[in-house]
Amino acid sequence: MSLPCKIVTSFLLIFNVSSKGAVSKEIRNAFETWGALGQDIDLDIPSFQMSDDIDDIKWEKTSDKKKIAQFRKEKETFEEKDAYKLFKNGTLKIKHLKIHDQDSYKVSIYDTKGKNVLEKTFDLKIQERVSEPKISWTCINTTLTCEVMNGTDPELNLYQDGKHVKLSQRVITHKWTTSLSAKFKCTAGNKVSKESRMETVSCPEKGLDIYLIIGICGGGSLLMVFVALLVFYITKRKKQRSRRNGKLPLFCPTAGPSKIPMKQLMGMTP
Ligand SMILES: *[C@@H]1O[C@H](CO)[C@@H](O)[C@H](O)[C@H]1NC(C)=O
Ligand SMILES: *[C@@H]1O[C@H](CO)[C@@H](O)[C@H](O)[C@H]1NC(C)=O
Ligand SMILES: *[C@@H]1O[C@H](CO)[C@@H](O)[C@H](O)[C@H]1NC(C)=O
Repeated sequence: MSLPCKIVTSFLLIFNVSSKGAVSKEIRNAFETWGALGQDIDLDIPSFQMSDDIDDIKWEKTSDKKKIAQFRKEKETFEEKDAYKLFKNGTLKIKHLKIHDQDSYKVSIYDTKGKNVLEKTFDLKIQERVSEPKISWTCINTTLTCEVMNGTDPELNLYQDGKHVKLSQRVITHKWTTSLSAKFKCTAGNKVSKESRMETVSCPEKGLDIYLIIGICGGGSLLMVFVALLVFYITKRKKQRSRRNGKLPLFCPTAGPSKIPMKQLMGMTP
């Protein structure tokens, strides 16, 4: 093989992305695979077809070179513990992933003649899933905060009315000025999960609010002054009228004409 050809081949090997979803990516001859803490993962062997010629499929953890599962023709399948499940097609399932499952896993396959058919390594990386991001805001300074509590290496993205405004790790603080109301979307994600939250933020017009309060207070005071003046004026008029009508200032609950029959009754007609 010529040198340029070798370079191209190794380049192709490095960038050979597994066809089985986006979780596996081959880096330096190992498949980088991401698993979520507490969930199951299938380590699928790419481009492998089970056949009668296959005699031995062996999985081992490369850190301690310990055999964890093995299929032998006409023998009982070996699984080191309940957390491992080896399928007929060679796929290894690891159940309920824990932090210490983060390791390299190697599968070796031999045919009935003892020939090594395939050897692959999987770099299993484990992350905690992100939690749903939380959005809060303050109208006084039109500042919005988006925060994610849980998750390994989260990436936060904030969008305002569909436009990307900020990128951060765990917390985003954003001051918006364009208008008092806006639609915000905050997404949190890592290799194993993605969560998002939407909020429509609506703040009252600040200036208008103060004028409204002043208006209500001012109007109320004016009304009180007006009512007080009115009461004072009516009282004064009543006093004047009763003085004109008789010597004694008689206050009667009923108004106007009823005063006369009352005074006649008391024998005070002039
Ligand atoms: C192997 O078998 C398991 C269980 O039947 C299945 O979930 C998985 O997708 C299979 N993998 C491949 C690569 O066919
Ligand atoms: C974060 O994780 C802890 C422990 O796993 C859990 O109790 C808590 O409810 C999670 N918080 C959120 C916001 O999901
Ligand atoms: C906005 O106001 C809130 C509450 O008064 C305060 O906690 C926050 O620090 C303020 N943010 C900025 C950027 O001034």
